[in-house]
Amino acid sequence: MTTFDQGEGPRPLRRLAPAKVNLSLAVTGRRADGYHLLDSLVVFADLGETLEARAAEDLTLAVTGPRSGGVPTDGRNLVLKAAALLRERRDVRTGAALSLRKALPHGGGVGGGSSDAAAALALLARLWGVEPLSPKEALILGADVPVCMAAPGPQRMRGVGDEVAPLAALPRAALWIVAPPLHLSTPAVFAERARIGTAGPGAMPPAGADLSDLAVWLRAEERNHLAEAAYSLAPELRDVRAVLEGTDALAVGLSGSGAAHWALCREGGASLARLREAHPEWIVLGGPILTPDAPLDA
Ligand code: C5P
Repeated sequence: MTTFDQGEGPRPLRRLAPAKVNLSLAVTGRRADGYHLLDSLVVFADLGETLEARAAEDLTLAVTGPRSGGVPTDGRNLVLKAAALLRERRDVRTGAALSLRKALPHGGGVGGGSSDAAAALALLARLWGVEPLSPKEALILGADVPVCMAAPGPQRMRGVGDEVAPLAALPRAALWIVAPPLHLSTPAVFAERARIGTAGPGAMPPAGADLSDLAVWLRAEERNHLAEAAYSLAPELRDVRAVLEGTDALAVGLSGSGAAHWALCREGGASLARLREAHPEWIVLGGPILTPDAPLDA
């Protein structure tokens, strides 16, 4: 019997690949293979990309949407890498027609590709009726993929990205994501951090903090140990931060290794329109922080 739920009818399976934001990011050590040990408070925002999957004989990917320019549709795309990995590990003999609507800045530290890969793993396990990959099996796709598999609730990410534990829901708040037209290479930012030798504070806010407490904690010290290195490589990023700090945002920071910044705001607070108008060259997105029970599948 054919049912819509298996993606064989007119309606494909669909899943949101939400934006990932590191509200804090501590570098706590380095492994012999060069990968860094991290401790990070990760949240997801209700904005991002949409992935659709339909049953098909072959594995194909179409990319659409406002950020689709320059995104590969071949085996270099993390969605197809994720699909190929699941197919291989679960001995799947069929394919899927995938369609990805890109909305997040590329290489901005907000998990575009990693979140897409996590969405692909979840959708295709459903479509193909196979056991989903474990976060450790998916780590090979990228250090941020395991945490993106744990969306939508806030997570504590440790190890090299492979240790992920859910945190209690944070206070209701909105996040803006602001990405200047600038790409920072993650290895280059880690290397710059090693060169300038920055350390930093712990990554976890006090348990049970309300929104004001969380904002005070975020503002008290630089909570992203990669921020100084990112600003050292691209000093103009400080201007982006200064503009955000001049708004009524409660706290502002760099996500991952940048170059995107986040701003934590009260829900229904000041509109993003003014930022977009003043800085048409920036990508400016906004949406509520996702709660643990938010549906990603549609
Ligand atoms: O795994 P991913 O491709 O996202 O990592 C990109 C680069 O970031 C790695 O090649 C590595 O240089 C650096 N990285 C790291 N430690 C981590 C994650 C990433 O040094 N835990």
